[in-house]
Amino acid sequence: MGTFAISQFGQQLGPHSGIVELMDDLGVAMAQGNMLMMGGGNPAIIPEVVEVFRQRMQAIAAGPEFDRMVSIYDPPAGNAKTLDALAGLLQERFGWDIGPENLAVTGGGQTAFFLLFNLLAGPQTDGSIKRILFPLAPEYIGYANQGLHPDIFTTIPPRVDHDETDGFFKYRIDFDRLTIDDSIGALCVSRPTNPTGNVLTDAEMDHLASLAAEHDVPLIIDNAYGAPFPNIIFEEVTPLWTPHTILTLSLSKLGLPGTRTAFVAGPPEIIQALSAANCVLSLANNNVGQYLVRELFENRQLFDLCEGIVRPYYQTRAQEAVRWVREAFGETPVNIHRPEGALFLWLRFPKLPITSKQLYERLKARRVLIIPGHYFFFGLAESHPHAHECIRMTYSQDPKVVQEGIAILADEVRKVYQQDQR
Ligand SMILES: Cc1ncc(COP(=O)(O)O)c(C=O)c1O
Repeated sequence: MGTFAISQFGQQLGPHSGIVELMDDLGVAMAQGNMLMMGGGNPAIIPEVVEVFRQRMQAIAAGPEFDRMVSIYDPPAGNAKTLDALAGLLQERFGWDIGPENLAVTGGGQTAFFLLFNLLAGPQTDGSIKRILFPLAPEYIGYANQGLHPDIFTTIPPRVDHDETDGFFKYRIDFDRLTIDDSIGALCVSRPTNPTGNVLTDAEMDHLASLAAEHDVPLIIDNAYGAPFPNIIFEEVTPLWTPHTILTLSLSKLGLPGTRTAFVAGPPEIIQALSAANCVLSLANNNVGQYLVRELFENRQLFDLCEGIVRPYYQTRAQEAVRWVREAFGETPVNIHRPEGALFLWLRFPKLPITSKQLYERLKARRVLIIPGHYFFFGLAESHPHAHECIRMTYSQDPKVVQEGIAILADEVRKVYQQDQR
């Protein structure tokens, strides 16, 4: 076999990016069959939710919709009826002034971010370079390698608030350090946040929105876990929409990651640029997810599904995971980020004598998979102590797996601290 030259583009999207290493590692571990999987971001398989989609699929398969679903390239922005239905739902639920011209479909949120970041940052026609500013580290690992131009991300370290009453900590945006100059092409936050389960407060979001308006840059809000779907959000907060907002909504955490479908809401000129780029890249979108949810959008059954089943399911799982961590750790040092949404607990082991990557390896040897924290601290000017003291664990999988995994995690962390004292 020859040695083929891989371009700079290929290197940038290549096998050494954190997300690829991670997905490979998870895949290999999964194939071994006996791992306790608390690493990935897979949503839970909730039987009531699967049943709703099974019935929708059967109804579609039995009628003429099926022919259109599998036989037609819809326009690059997505299926017109589905976009109409989504616009109606967002108008009704939040009173937002949104029409189909504000909406486009992509192959999952991941693709939407790749396109948005590279549309809004990187080399400009005047020779300057624009960047994406993440106001709060840690942030979603899946963004880290998406810039086609190296170093297009700038991240601000968090302020850390400790709540003495219930022992949780919470990251907050350090607005004193957040400066926006001409080199910033857009701001971006995930809310709820992957990896921490943080939900930025309404005050923080309002502040970001006013900065975005003042500097005339888009504020991208990654709503992968937010309202109205999947609504894995345990705090009373208000979703934000302004003329500067770009909001991404994905079907994945609702239970449809296999359909690879996300919707992007934003200003029409950005939606047009996004659809055109998506057309060049993919020609058209996968129709299946859009067909599965359209009726739920139209008859608003989606609200019942998310508020009645999806949110309570994850809230219960979060509470039991916190209880298990506290019971298993006992006197062993552990701080938990307040779980306000998404599928994860973010744990900090203060002054951990080894790195979180070393802890990850030791846990993997004991069949437990978590994600070491350093992956989520990309784009920072200087390293942050939490990068090597924190891990992300997913609580969406089988409760028995989660409880057993937490027990092994606590045992291993205890050993690490004890070995350090000898
Ligand atoms: C915050 C966040 N954004 C985006 C994504 C991408 O999801 P998808 O491409 O399945 O929509 C994920 C997946 O875990 C995520 O956690």
